[in-house]
Amino acid sequence: MIVRIHRDKGERYDDYNVEISDGMTVLELLFRIQENIDQTLAFRYSCRGAICGSCAVLANGRPVLACKTPLSRVTDLKNGGYVSLPSKTELPAGGILLEPAPKLPVIRDLIVDWEPFFGEYRKLVPVLKENNNHPEKEHLVGKDESRELEKYTNCILCALCWSVCPVVNEVNGYPGPAALAKLFRFYLDPREPNGIKRLSLADNEAGWWACDFYTNCRKVCPKGVPPNAAIGRARKLLKNEEVGK
Ligand code: SF4
Ligand code: FES
Repeated sequence: MIVRIHRDKGERYDDYNVEISDGMTVLELLFRIQENIDQTLAFRYSCRGAICGSCAVLANGRPVLACKTPLSRVTDLKNGGYVSLPSKTELPAGGILLEPAPKLPVIRDLIVDWEPFFGEYRKLVPVLKENNNHPEKEHLVGKDESRELEKYTNCILCALCWSVCPVVNEVNGYPGPAALAKLFRFYLDPREPNGIKRLSLADNEAGWWACDFYTNCRKVCPKGVPPNAAIGRARKLLKNEEVGK
């Protein structure tokens, strides 16, 4: 199979003729090339188990985690319901095209600089704020509450939602879907004393109100996190708060 890969900062694409094995993932394909054909190929990975979020790439225009995605899913163009992004080059016939996740500066080959994504994320202070009302034993979180929290704590910060969100390009200072989902997660946390004040951190035109509900974030998220739902709920809560003033 011909595998075409974005090289350096995009000045060129290199083609590799690679022998494919059954059930191979995109990350395994990259290792096969690096170990057997071209040791200069650079890509990022860590956990190899869809937990660290570091292996996000574009495969045939689809934003995916390389370690979790079998080649069959990438080459099967019939399996719709995905977000596909334009490329600077042609898809090799019957082959695979691998590119870095968009909207982040490319360092080399498939490796991007995450600072724009994490810079915005940090601005929303994504940590549990201190609560001085400590219970005598543990903080108990009910089953329903914890199920609700889990929807958002499942985020692995892969930045795929950032890569496919049109608002990231349109609105300067937009925190991005993952950061807003995380902010909402802390609003929901029953151990936090800050309630609606948490949401007010992004209560501005570049924050909650900038989202146009393209819902690409939800469609590409490899962990099923629904940032669009968090944004919709936060807006409703803030509106009700305003009415109640
Ligand atoms: S919300 Fe999903 S797509 Fe976005 S950073 Fe978290 S895990 Fe990745
Ligand atoms: S290597 Fe960690 S998510 Fe893919």
